[in-house]
Formats: sequence, C-alpha cells, structure tokens
Amino acid sequence: MSDSHSDALVFFGATGDLAYKMIFPALQALVKRGHLDVPVIGVAKGGGTVSQLRARAHDSLEKHGGVDSAAFEKLSSLLRYVDGDYNDAATFQALHKELNGAERPAFYLAIPPMLFETVVKHIAESVKAPDARVIIEKPFGHDLASARELNKTLHRFLPESAIFRIDHYLGKQAVNNVVVFRFANAFMEPFWNRNYIQSMEITMAEAFGVEGRGGFYDQTGVIRDVIENHLFQILSNLAMESPARADSESIRDEKAKVLKAIPAVEKGNVVRGQFRGYRTEAGVAPDSKVGTFAALRLEVDSWRWKGVPFYIRAGKNLPVTCTEVLARFRRPPTVFHNAGDSANYMRFRIGPEMTIAVGATVLGQNEQEGKRPVEIIASRHPQPGEMDAYERILGEAMAGDPTLFAREDYVEEAWRIVDPVLAADTPVYEYEKGSWGPSEVAGKIAPEGGWHNPAATGQEDYRVAA
Ligand code: BG6
Repeated sequence: MSDSHSDALVFFGATGDLAYKMIFPALQALVKRGHLDVPVIGVAKGGGTVSQLRARAHDSLEKHGGVDSAAFEKLSSLLRYVDGDYNDAATFQALHKELNGAERPAFYLAIPPMLFETVVKHIAESVKAPDARVIIEKPFGHDLASARELNKTLHRFLPESAIFRIDHYLGKQAVNNVVVFRFANAFMEPFWNRNYIQSMEITMAEAFGVEGRGGFYDQTGVIRDVIENHLFQILSNLAMESPARADSESIRDEKAKVLKAIPAVEKGNVVRGQFRGYRTEAGVAPDSKVGTFAALRLEVDSWRWKGVPFYIRAGKNLPVTCTEVLARFRRPPTVFHNAGDSANYMRFRIGPEMTIAVGATVLGQNEQEGKRPVEIIASRHPQPGEMDAYERILGEAMAGDPTLFAREDYVEEAWRIVDPVLAADTPVYEYEKGSWGPSEVAGKIAPEGGWHNPAATGQEDYRVAA
C-alpha cells in the first residue's frame, strides 16, 4: 500500500439503494483483485448490526453479479458497522473509535446531498484525520448557485485535493478510451477538428424508464441526471486538447478548458420531452414538467471546434439502451460522393459494448450494386471479471488519484452551461415509450442529415439513418 492509499473506507448510506446495487459488488470485486485490504466501515441509521450488514451485502451480491465465496468471506472480515443519526455527534465518536487510529480514511458519502454538509462537518470535528478524503456521489448540486455553495461548504473543511466528486462515466474504459484513441494514434489529429468534422452527436438512449426512482427523478430530470455530468464528460474527451503532461491536473485542466469554451445554452437550443405515462409513476407529480428526454445544441468556441455544432440527446424509454458518438465528416468535394451518401463518419460506441468504427463509402461488388456504405469496425464486449466503473473509481479514490473525478472548476462550468435551460420554462413535449423522443426534435434540434439513431447490439446495419 502506497503512502497515499486510504487506510480505511467508511461508507455512509450503508443500508441504502446505491450501496446495495453498486457499492457491495464493487467492494467484493476490489477484494477479489487484491485491491482492498483495509477496514470497511458502513454507517447508517437503521438500528442494525454488523451481521445484518454482512447479510445485506450477501443479498446484494446474489442479485448483482454473484457471490464469490472467498472474496465475500474476506470482505465480511473487513466489514464493520456504525449505527446512528448523522445529526448526532455520538455517531461520529463511535466512528472515530471504530477507525482505530486510521490516518488516511476515505469517507464515501452515498447519501442525499442535503446531508453532505452535516456529515462533512462532523467528520472534521469528531474524526480528526488530517489526511482524510471524501468521495461524493452525484448530483453535485442542482444548479450553478447550489454547486458553488456546496464547493464553498466542503472547502471550509477540506482542501480540493481531498475531494473526489464521482461521475461513474469516468470509470468506464470506453469513455477514457476516447482520449487514448485520439492522442495515441497520429492519424486522428489531422482530421479531428473544424476543417473536417461537420457535426458531432452524442446520444444516450435508455430503453427503460425511471424504475422506482420517480421521487428522485422528478427532482432531477434528464439534464441534471445524465447530460451535465455523464455526457459532458464524453464531450470533454472528444473535444479536449492533448494534455502537456499525464498527471491528473494537466488532464483535468484540458477538460475544464473545453467547458470554458462552451457558451451557456440558450433556451432555443433545447427541446425537452417526457414519455407518456411518466406522470403516473410513483413519486412523480401528476402535473410534472420534468423532462425525461432532452436534445441540445452546443458550440465549442475553441480554435479546434469553432463553428462545429455539438448535438447531445438523452432520454428514458427510447428504443434501445446504448450510448454512442457520431462525428460526421464534411462532404468531400468530388464526383464520387453524392449528397445521399450517408457513410462518411466516425462512430464511438460507449456502451453496452465498446466500438470504434469508420463509416465509409466503397465500390460494391458489381455494376448493379454501385457504391455502398461499409464500416471499418473494432468492437469489444465486456468480458467476465472485467473491472466495472464503480470498482475502478472506488479503487482510484482510495489510491488517491483524482484523474477520474470532477474538479471544482469543471463542475461549476458544467452547471454554468445548462443553468439558463434549467431555469427556462421551455415546453415539455410528450413522446411515446419506445420512440426516439418528441417529433418536435427533428425540426428544431437536429444535425444536418438528421439524427443518427444507434442500433441495438448486434443489429447494426452499418449505416447512418437518413
Ligand atoms: C445514473 C443515472 O447516473 O446513470 C441513471 O442516475 C442512468 O438514470 C445511469 O440510468 C446510467 O448509467 P449506465 O452506466 O448504466 O450507462
């Protein structure tokens, strides 16, 4: 274990949903890989015991990825439990005792944001570990003002270097691969700019709805839930410049620079939608105007991208579950390319599988066939035992590497960009479940040539929809 590695992990919200779905599986995976060998202390207010927490962990693993008996046994031996109210100093005194002199504990706040300040204040006052770090779940605030406020609050107790703001998309190999692919391969550079790229599209489609999270979702909406964080991370990776050095701050500087170059989105550059039936979901207001779909047009006013429109679209209950980027190239000035030729692009599929593809037009097998679109494609499906996003980011936070976390300036820039559309009362158009969102999108926010609708895994026909 290096000098900066956390010597204990404390997770608040130990009996909550996130712990159940994501954290226990990530912990077991970390143990199995030999990356976790320090006390793991769950904190919650539930009147439970450590054996109940172990049983819950077991249950969680049975449902999410499976129990590995040796790893689970080891994890159980590392698990501790502190029960108590987050408002009560006694909870933190008990935690202090349980930490048993740990000098560099990592505190993971898997709890509602309104509790962040209380918990961080207690940690600073009662636990007194000078080298503590805090891992914070999204959403980080709900607009620019609240994000600034939250940053200010955290900085009263912690330096920026001790704050790890989670965006689990940064734990995805396919997201990080965009940067490596761009900068590790010399052929990318000459055309990856405004001279050759006509438009950039990012689509995050989910073929399911709010899945019992109606209460949370109705306070959040699609722009806060996935666009200003997950999809902006993809956008930053697509648009950033090569960092001067490979250290965390040089990389995060470049990402923040991308967002700084994006003017705030005006309300005419967004179309919002809501799937039919959303208002009858549990926890959703019957007259809710929250968007479960949004399409946005952005500009990146940098030397590289000025004048290239970036389109972002995300929604629940769309036809497929898939996140994909399509960079359309400008039309070549030759007689061999006609306006109707659709294959002239580069495609990055971020999930469910990872794909890099170049769409090109070639001469078919015979005269009848003429020209036809093809894809030169490299694709890889997730393999059993592969590190998933949560395991990766938890491991990185405990190792003390902030590269895969959102920095203060970055999160504030992200909120600045979407703030006007969050405040604007733009219409929310209804759309049918299983459709590509409201029909208004096509006429208002669409790239030249129309949106590219990603195909379900295994059903790609290697061409862009006209
Ligand atoms: C979460 C959102 O942050 O990301 C969810 O709250 C969304 O609404 C999820 O479904 C998508 O993550 P992934 O890794 O499944 O693409």
